[in-house]
This record gives sequence, C-alpha cells and structure tokens, in this order.
Amino acid sequence: MNNVSELAISYLQRYGCQIDEDYKTFLREACKIHPPPHGMAWYGNFYRQRAREAEWFANSLIANAAEEGNGSRKVWQFSQCISEPEYAELVRKHSIDESRHSKMFVALVNILFPTQLEADFRVQLQGLSPEYYHHKHPTTEPPLVSDRSLDNSSSGHLILDTEKVMDEIIKINLLEIRALILQLLLRPVLQAYATPENLAKVTTMSDVFIYDETKHIDYSAYCIGKYIQQGNQEWVRGMIISRQQSINEMFLTDVELENSVGTTVLSTPNT
Ligand SMILES: [Fe+2]
Ligand SMILES: [Fe+2]
Repeated sequence: MNNVSELAISYLQRYGCQIDEDYKTFLREACKIHPPPHGMAWYGNFYRQRAREAEWFANSLIANAAEEGNGSRKVWQFSQCISEPEYAELVRKHSIDESRHSKMFVALVNILFPTQLEADFRVQLQGLSPEYYHHKHPTTEPPLVSDRSLDNSSSGHLILDTEKVMDEIIKINLLEIRALILQLLLRPVLQAYATPENLAKVTTMSDVFIYDETKHIDYSAYCIGKYIQQGNQEWVRGMIISRQQSINEMFLTDVELENSVGTTVLSTPNT
C-alpha cells in the first residue's frame, strides 16, 4: 500500500466523492509499482527544512502563483479540444479554479510578507493569473489547426480523439493528486508563518485549496471511471501505471528538485 494513493482516496471519501472501484485499484497498483517521490518522508522533510527560510518560502509561494496561472491557461486550451460537452465543461471549471488559486497564492504572499516586496512587484504578481471566471474567459471553440494531419474533425479545428483526451485526463488526475499532497505539506508551514491575527484566514484558504484539489481528482477520476466502464480497463490500467512513472521521473531530476519542491504543479505535460 502506498501513502499517496491512500491519502488521495481518503480525501475523496472525506468529501463524499463517488469513485469507481477499478480506478482505485489501478491507482493503488500504479503507486505501488512507481511510488511517487512526493509521498516519501525525505521529500516532506526536505520541504519543511527549506521552508524555514523565509525568502525561499516566499519565493515558493510566488512560484506556485505562476504555476497555477500557467496551469489554468493550459487546462483551458485542453478544454477547447474536447468534443464531449460534459468533459469540456468539467475541464473549464478546473481551469477557472486554478486561475483563482494563482490569485490566492499572491494573496498569501501579501498576508504573510506584508512589507518585504516592492509595490511594483506586487502589481506584477497580480498578472500571473489569467483571470478566468465563469462570466469572463477565452472562447470555448476549438482552435484552428494549420497542420491538417492533426485534425480528425474535418472542420479545420483541433479536436482530440478519445484516447488522447483520456490520456490527458489521466495525467491531470495524477498531477492533481500531487497538488493535493503538496497542499497538505504546505498547510502547517502556512500556519507557522501566520500571525495570530491572520491564522484563521490563512487556514480557511488552505481548506479551500485542499477541497478544490480533491475535487480536481474527483472529476478526472469520474471521467476515467466512465471510460473504464465502457470496456477500457486494460488500457486505463496500463496508462495510469505508465503516466505515474513519467510524472515521478519529471519531478525527480536533480536539476528540477529545488524548483519542484513546494510547487503545486497543475499543468498537463505535452498538452
Ligand atoms: Fe490549484
Ligand atoms: Fe488543481
């Protein structure tokens, strides 16, 4: 049993999410075969050690604001290429959440480090979020493709085929599990930096992050579960195992380690 799959499943249960049994089995198997580094003791210890340094921690909050903003943009672009309306809507909602998360990370920098940054820089940080809302966002139309070989819609618009969409959704699912684990690591550090006056506010923000990341795991697991029920068990099982391996490798190179620890990564690689 691996602590990452168990934590993800326990948070899904805590928020009353209905999760496909095969999905849970495949996730447990993938995390057992390729244990995610973000669930290992050394990872948490390393993060807590580094986060004691205020400058590193402030920078990691800013890096998170940037990651959430970029993730939001990429997730929206992905939503535009999905033909299934229900899935496209779920992915758009995800994008809007991440846009809000970017602003929340900037708010945390302002709350916890109220005097350490130049005013100009604070204004620049606001630009990290694409500011997508339910009432204000980019088009939902698929992008035009110049390379017709990529196009299977014969309309000149880029629409991804079902397998490609499911592959992306599996990557999102595993990255959102990572995002949840990182939020759980972040929580006590945020509380340690908070003053008695802002502790309640910071804790509420952490609650929102943890809830939202769990809901991102939930909706992607829902899509995966539906695909499994359509008779694609073995394909999904193989993809979850293989994508968990590539995500572990992506975040475990020596060069990336310093940047990746403390970063809530939401972007979908190779979208
Ligand atoms: Fe997020
Ligand atoms: Fe997320």
